[in-house]
Amino acid sequence: MSIFVTGGAGFIGSQFIRDWVVQNPDELVINFDSLTYAGNLENLAPVDKLPNYRMVKGDICDENAVLAAIPEDCAAVVNFAAESHVDRSILSAKEFVQTNVLGTQTLLDISRHKKVGRFLHISTDEVGGSMEPNQWFTEDMPLNPSSPYAASKTAAEHLVRAASHTFGMDTIITRTSNNYGPYQFPEKLLPLAISNAMQGLPIPVYGDGLQERDWIHVADNTRALGIVLRRGRAGQTYHIGGKNPLRNMDVLKILLKTVGQPESLLTHVTDRLGHDRRYAVDCSKTYRELGWEPEIGFAEGLAATVAWYRDNQAWVQRTRSGEYKDYYARMYGNV
Ligand code: NAD
Ligand code: TYD
Repeated sequence: MSIFVTGGAGFIGSQFIRDWVVQNPDELVINFDSLTYAGNLENLAPVDKLPNYRMVKGDICDENAVLAAIPEDCAAVVNFAAESHVDRSILSAKEFVQTNVLGTQTLLDISRHKKVGRFLHISTDEVGGSMEPNQWFTEDMPLNPSSPYAASKTAAEHLVRAASHTFGMDTIITRTSNNYGPYQFPEKLLPLAISNAMQGLPIPVYGDGLQERDWIHVADNTRALGIVLRRGRAGQTYHIGGKNPLRNMDVLKILLKTVGQPESLLTHVTDRLGHDRRYAVDCSKTYRELGWEPEIGFAEGLAATVAWYRDNQAWVQRTRSGEYKDYYARMYGNV
């Protein structure tokens, strides 16, 4: 059996592959990734010599490249590939439409023709838009995205559901909240703040910093994804969250305490355009149907994450300097 993972060189996809190839030695994993700025093959270094792991460089929008790489006996496509950073989507949205919408449709078309067993699409709690105080986003609520990123992820979800409804494809959508953990590209809040805190540099807080996000350790998310892939019901959507909505200021105060730096590093800057106030996913359906619950508490997960960044300064340096881009040529030649 083989699974075709897209975007597996990114933050969450690489955690999924690192776990999956070790836990399922008889299953081949093909990591199909175009290696944008967010794709870092060093994230796969712990497993990239294993016989059941294969890397193929390619773009999910390129039909021929996907057709050439997808195996005949493909049990599942797991679609992580995306442009994923809200701030970048505000600067330029076209790449988001290209990869997140057209790329997803390309994968759906090929998966149907190749009779892929299951199409697992990784989406986000941001498709629900900003929640009111005390409001929780459930799977059946209408979608109401605010940012160009969230709008492109919403469009992709609609296409996945349309493929299921129209062609009877076995598709599942997961919507996860803000992930944190090792190997996250240092443009997102936590890795950026950890790096800055360790160097005693100011940490930019957008606006008043009272926006709420739900935080989940990436390993809790990928464990849930494995369960969804094996046991989820076709056609369903499952929410995966950390049961932990926190205000950004509170997150950063916990972080500074963990690192041992003063709160004076928190520096309010101009707010993000159209900044959503609150995301909070209700995951009771996932708990009920699949018996999964997050196991890593925020303080514990954050301390482990800080320790990882402290122990992996070389990774951080290479990521920030752009040196990580050499890894592909060193591993696979100059293609
Ligand atoms: P990431 O930005 O770290 O990684 C994205 C990966 O996709 C990179 O390896 C990149 O090279 C690859 N990619 C981009 N465009 C591609 C293309 N056209 N063809 C092939 N590969 C391409 O993202 P992440 O944080 O790992 O997120 C993975 C998925 O989870 C995304 O779909 C994202 O929308 C979703 N998600 C992320 C979070 C989060 O907190 N990080 C939360 C909810 C949902
Ligand atoms: P981010 O990590 O970009 O994730 P998302 O926008 O997908 O939730 O941002 C998390 C929260 O932190 C969000 O409310 C924006 C805020 N933020 C800052 O205050 N400062 C920063 O430098 C960044 C990157 C984000």
